[in-house]
Amino acid sequence: MEVVIVEDAAKGGALVAQAIARLLAGRPDALIGVATGSTPVPVYEALAALARRGEADLSRARVAQLDEYVGLPPDHPESYRSVLARQVLEPLGIPEGSFLGPDGTAGDIRAACEAYDRALAAAGGVDLQLLGIGTDGHIGFNEPCSSLTSRTRIKTLTERTRADNARFFGHDVGQVPRHVITQGVGTILEARHVVLLATGEAKAEAVAATVEGPLSARCPSSALQLHPHATVVADEAAASRL
Ligand code: GLP
Repeated sequence: MEVVIVEDAAKGGALVAQAIARLLAGRPDALIGVATGSTPVPVYEALAALARRGEADLSRARVAQLDEYVGLPPDHPESYRSVLARQVLEPLGIPEGSFLGPDGTAGDIRAACEAYDRALAAAGGVDLQLLGIGTDGHIGFNEPCSSLTSRTRIKTLTERTRADNARFFGHDVGQVPRHVITQGVGTILEARHVVLLATGEAKAEAVAATVEGPLSARCPSSALQLHPHATVVADEAAASRL
């Protein structure tokens, strides 16, 4: 595992955006796995700035979603589909046809999860998967004790994650869905390059457990220790317990 420590969130965003631009220069139709949450936002902003300056070509880029709430209509402002439309697809000019995501409103969620894994494989697999990290070490929505070989499936959120995400739902934890679809840890590990970005003191413990802790389902992000090409980009605050 490669660990890169940067001064702050903006520098981390710029570094990851440059890595994506380099990937696209060699493979213009690369499939980029994108995450939600506050952490990756500087990446998307830096990538848009590179594209404006002609330093990143996103014209053939493809994008795949990491996870989704179950039961939120796709046009709900906090469905991850809507968040990614606002933060990634629209600013980067990526058309609907180049986007892959799970269906959080399907009648048969299990079938929708299996269909999403098949769609990712049919698309040739994810070239670069960008991840944030939960304060408890979750990646995607793989909460502690998720199987490290899990596939895309439905999960129940912990109260801690619902509380962490309540800020997106008017600080009302009751509005945060209980169930989610997430790419499994095993699915995530199939990406050719996994880049985990962590910023801020609140992530310091989870980053230390990811990089230096035992490989354990109690900290799903520790599974990145198994990946042949995993990069952890942490700002100084998030790296402070290493
Ligand atoms: C959610 C998402 C994760 C994300 C995490 C951390 O749980 N499912 O993909 O990494 O939040 O979010 P933030 O970056 O806002 O701290």
